[in-house]
Amino acid sequence: MDLETAMNKRHSVRQFTDQEVSREQIEHLVSLAQRSPSWVDSQPWQVYAATGEVLQQIKAAYQEQDQAGNHGDPDLKVMSRGDWQERPQANMKQWGHEIVHHFANYDEAHEAMTGAANNLNFAPAILFITIPKQSPDWSILDAGIFAQSLLLAATAEGLGSIPTYNSVRFPAILHQFLEVPEDERFMVGIEIGYPADTKINQYRAKRQDLADLLHFRD
Ligand SMILES: Cc1cc2nc3c(=O)[nH]c(=O)nc-3n(C[C@H](O)[C@H](O)[C@H](O)COP(=O)(O)O)c2cc1C
Repeated sequence: MDLETAMNKRHSVRQFTDQEVSREQIEHLVSLAQRSPSWVDSQPWQVYAATGEVLQQIKAAYQEQDQAGNHGDPDLKVMSRGDWQERPQANMKQWGHEIVHHFANYDEAHEAMTGAANNLNFAPAILFITIPKQSPDWSILDAGIFAQSLLLAATAEGLGSIPTYNSVRFPAILHQFLEVPEDERFMVGIEIGYPADTKINQYRAKRQDLADLLHFRD
C-alpha cells in the first residue's frame, strides 16, 4: 500500500473482532515505527504489547474502576473542554455532534460509544507507548510521531487501529500488569486488530478546510 492510500485509509476503529494479531505482526509494525525521527535520535519510546490473558486482566481492572465511578488519572493531564481555545473546542463540538447523528438516535449512539469505551473497543492487542519520566517535552512530540508511524504501519498491514487516552487512564494498573518500571510514563495506547463490520466503524471524522489551517507567508 502506498503512503497516500494508507494516510487516507487510516481512521479510528472502535470495534474490533476477536481475531488475534500475531507476535510477528506486532514486531513488524514496531520495527517500522522505529524509523520515526526523534530528538538527537534519542528514541525515548518503549512499547508494551498487551494481548491475551494480560490484556483481559487490564480490561477487567479498568471495568472495576469504571463501576466504582473513577475517571482515572493519566500521566498526560486532560483539560476540560471549556478551557480549550475556541477553534479546537469548536472542532471537538462538531465531532461530538456528528458522531451522535451518525446513529439512528442519541440512545443508540450512547450505547455504541460507551459499550466500545468500556471494553477498550474489544481490541485483541494494545501497544502501550511510554517515555521516561525524566524527559523534555520534546520526547512527548517524539512519542506522538512514533504513534502515528505505528498507526500507518498497521493500516498498510491491513489492520485497524485507534490511539486512545481511554486505555492509559489508570497508569497504576498498567504499571502492575505490564510490569512497567515506575520511572516511565504512559503516553497513549495504540489499539490494533481487525475491524468489525459495524455502524460505529463506518463513521469518518471530518477535517477543517485547508485554508483554515494552512497559512502561506510569501
Ligand atoms: C492522543 C489521542 C487520544 C485519543 N483517545 C481516544 C479515546 O480515548 N477514545 C476514542 O474513542 N478515540 C480516541 N482518539 C481518536 C480520536 O477521536 C480520532 O483520532 C479523531 O476523532 C479523528 O478521527 P480519525 O482517527 O478516525 O481520523 C484519540 C486520538 C488521539 C490522537
